[in-house]
Amino acid sequence: MNETIKNLLAEVDKAVADKSFGKEPEALYEPIHYILSLGGKRLRPLLSLLAYRLYREDHRKAMNPAMAIEVFHNFTLMHDDIMDEAPLRRGKATVHEKWDNNTAILSGDVMLVKAYDLLLEIDPQILPEVLKAFNQTAAEVCEGQQMDMLFETRTDVTEDEYLEMIRLKTAVLLGHSLWMGGKLAGADAQQLQALYDFGQNIGIGFQLKDDLLDVYADKAKFGKQVGGDILSNKKTFLLIQAKNLANEEQAAALEKWLSTYDNPEEKVKAVTALYNEMQIRELTEEKMNSYFERAMLNLKQLKSNNQALEDISTFTAYLLHREK
Ligand code: IPE
Ligand code: IPE
Ligand code: MG
Ligand code: MG
Ligand code: MG
Repeated sequence: MNETIKNLLAEVDKAVADKSFGKEPEALYEPIHYILSLGGKRLRPLLSLLAYRLYREDHRKAMNPAMAIEVFHNFTLMHDDIMDEAPLRRGKATVHEKWDNNTAILSGDVMLVKAYDLLLEIDPQILPEVLKAFNQTAAEVCEGQQMDMLFETRTDVTEDEYLEMIRLKTAVLLGHSLWMGGKLAGADAQQLQALYDFGQNIGIGFQLKDDLLDVYADKAKFGKQVGGDILSNKKTFLLIQAKNLANEEQAAALEKWLSTYDNPEEKVKAVTALYNEMQIRELTEEKMNSYFERAMLNLKQLKSNNQALEDISTFTAYLLHREK
């Protein structure tokens, strides 16, 4: 990260901290302030602001719409953590653990509404187009999330199906964040397409890295439960490759652990050991790098000054090398 990105991050954090979403009932609004106060990388609003800065300098005008995307993202996390039965988020108890499922459902719902409130501040001239694009993205995120859940109990998920699932659940929102930043700054259709494609490619790389960290992260840095994907039989790139590459003995062992639910620690250990034997980590890194490389080609199509372009590449490199 460079100084520009650090300053933008501080501005996003301040905008989020200063925002009140409501007071009563406390059980509705407190979880919103709680999850948003736990930080996170804020990468979606940062991508919007960095895209805006490719074409204009007054990025503060894009802050509330950028924050809308962060609020929407946190809503998806609140519900995702119920669906994934996740105990930890950003190093703290998830909302449904600290309160309960119903609280997390309803607080999440109202966050979606609050995200729309923030979007309403967009110039009325372009608001319908931005809303339409946002709505398509939001529906796609739900489609991806549903596929992710359906895949848990399937045994024949292919690499292509997986890639489509992560494109939907994760990558389209990164694409949209960049697209919207460009749109608010008045970029033309060709630039907007390049921004969207760039975001989608880094988004796929980003989710591959998320899946990798779920197995290999340093627990102290990660802030989420390590091994959660293994415990819920998520059809990650790692598991799909392991199933493809396993010899007879490894296949039988994988099979056995996939149907074991009463020994979580051993399950995570054993499946990770199988991944290690088959060098799944290296394979996943290769795949991830290939998407970040594609993204770099999209970046070359952007017409802007060198500094603003460099800021986007610097931020992309940070996402690729992150440890949480
Ligand atoms: C987590 O998103 C969900 C995924 C799409 C992998 P982030 O990794 O951006 O989470 P925060 O906001 O930084 O905590
Ligand atoms: C979640 O993917 C993507 C969305 C929230 C839409 P994950 O389930 O892998 O995200 P984490 O790992 O819980 O952050
Ligand atoms: Mg999930
Ligand atoms: Mg999850
Ligand atoms: Mg994950």
